[in-house]
Amino acid sequence: MDKTIPNFDKKIVMSGIRPTGFLHLGNYFGAIRNYVKMQDEYECYFMVADLHSLTTHPDTKELKQNVYRVIAENIACGLDPEKAAFYCQSHVRETAELYLYLNMLAYMGELEKTVTFKDKARQNPENINAGLLTYPVLQAADIILHRASYVPVGKDQEQHLEMARTFAIRFNYRYGNVFPEPHAFNYNAALVKVPSLDNTGKMSKSENQAATLYLADDDDTIRKKIKKALTDGGPKEKNSVMPDYIENIFLLMELVSPQEKIEKYKNDFNDGTIRYGDFKEDLGNDMVNFIAPIRQKATDLLNDEKRIKEIMEIGAAKANKSANETMRIVRDAMGMNY
Ligand code: TRP
Repeated sequence: MDKTIPNFDKKIVMSGIRPTGFLHLGNYFGAIRNYVKMQDEYECYFMVADLHSLTTHPDTKELKQNVYRVIAENIACGLDPEKAAFYCQSHVRETAELYLYLNMLAYMGELEKTVTFKDKARQNPENINAGLLTYPVLQAADIILHRASYVPVGKDQEQHLEMARTFAIRFNYRYGNVFPEPHAFNYNAALVKVPSLDNTGKMSKSENQAATLYLADDDDTIRKKIKKALTDGGPKEKNSVMPDYIENIFLLMELVSPQEKIEKYKNDFNDGTIRYGDFKEDLGNDMVNFIAPIRQKATDLLNDEKRIKEIMEIGAAKANKSANETMRIVRDAMGMNY
């Protein structure tokens, strides 16, 4: 009865971006830069997860603007709607159908013990809705709807991905081999770490805004934030051990400055002559040179609603084509074809 032919050997990439908050340098170096590379090498589906955002943000007043912003910022970073399918989750209705089928294969017990569910339930005890519980099921639907096997995500999504694998395997076991197993996928084994400017962790979409560099920050804001980054009076002697907060600003410099400059400051540090004021001014300028063109492009796009809509339509057409194909196979496999 196995008449379904899974496309296991085609390298299909799928990932989702929640439209909550402004994109920052960590999003760029941790994710978007990889998407931009992948779009040349794989069949890629990148999705704005507007349905997922409803699980925690039921008020939709700002949803449209947030969706537009994520699209504009990703395009400004180099995502190409002609190369990848860059689309909005709610524009692909088959997502909801597959989500429904997968919900019948997902057990309460495994959903309830998901770490993100427990966290969100704790943070927001007055809105523990069923959508929040089945968040990983919807995410699994997003991925396997394109029969994707490569999912570029960060560490925080590992459990969701493991669950997506579980649901895909469970479906295959019950109804026949339809889905390849999705796996986390990133180019460099160690993901680039983009530290916050105050040595409290990583840059963040919503917390700690003064210590995070956003792609929408203006030149002045970028320079000011960097000026306030935690430093000290400099090393007291030659070849001192570098404190972690100094290492962090070097990490940021590695992202945007030329190698000679980094070498110069490393040597200055080792000689005990480094001046953090100069360092920050240099880093500020290089950061502005990096962020300003992205910000400008995103702003221009945000002012061009017609183009944004066109980008969404191009993406939806590609995603719908792939989704329709998969759902035909799914319904056949399930015997839902009468
Ligand atoms: N849950 C992901 C996040 O919070 C977003 C997401 C939704 C996603 N659907 C996806 C990621 C599918 C990868 C694949 O970042």
